[in-house]
Amino acid sequence: MIEGRERTLYGRRRGKKLRAGQEALLGTLLPKLLIKLPLNEPLGDRELWLEIGFGAGEHLVWQAEQHPDVMLLGCEPFINGVAKCLAHIERTGVTNVRLFNDDARLLMAALPERSLSRVFILFPDPWPKTRHHKRRFVQRATLDVLAPLMKAGAELRLATDDPSYLPWMVEHACRHPTFEWLAERPGDWRARPDDWPPTRYELKMLAGHKPVFLRLRRR
Ligand SMILES: C[S@@+](CC[C@H](N)C(=O)[O-])C[C@H]1O[C@@H](n2cnc3c(N)ncnc32)[C@H](O)[C@@H]1O
Repeated sequence: MIEGRERTLYGRRRGKKLRAGQEALLGTLLPKLLIKLPLNEPLGDRELWLEIGFGAGEHLVWQAEQHPDVMLLGCEPFINGVAKCLAHIERTGVTNVRLFNDDARLLMAALPERSLSRVFILFPDPWPKTRHHKRRFVQRATLDVLAPLMKAGAELRLATDDPSYLPWMVEHACRHPTFEWLAERPGDWRARPDDWPPTRYELKMLAGHKPVFLRLRRR
């Protein structure tokens, strides 16, 4: 169980007014794809991949298109992002995506151990001020919950463009005893892997710092 629930979710839940088409997708398509807790449908035999904080969902839906045999679970509490993701799902016609519209930690608490084959946390909110670092999603406590949910050999992908989040991710994730950092040479985490399309946040931030792409394997 999450203690102090309200304090674990710091970002916005809702932004500018949704367009009629977006409201319609929330009313019609979302209920078909929504993950409710306790888990409302069996997770099935397919590999499960989880994306935490999918933003507008372009990476999530791209992965779903490329991997039709995989079931993609996406978590995003920001309803405007969910609406955009639904539009991508409708446009592409993918059927292997399920959405959780709340704090990913609530879903993590409900998932069975060793159920996930891949996890993406791409450009999590950087919370650059030192006094806000404890709000960062990537931290030892969250990874301690996530690690047992992942199968041995499962991959965790992290990205950030925030210069202070990189050393933090290295300290909290790459040095976590359950994860092995897959970088073999310094350039590895600067180069975008082919199966890792840019996210909306990343494209918006192009003028800023260079992103890093961290791949870790659950031991
Ligand atoms: C900086 S945005 C990046 C979005 C997307 N990954 C991208 O790269 O475009 C971080 C996202 O994480 C979401 N987020 C923040 N806390 C979260 C949580 N506890 N569970 C799930 N998503 C969360 C936010 O709503 C936001 O959409």
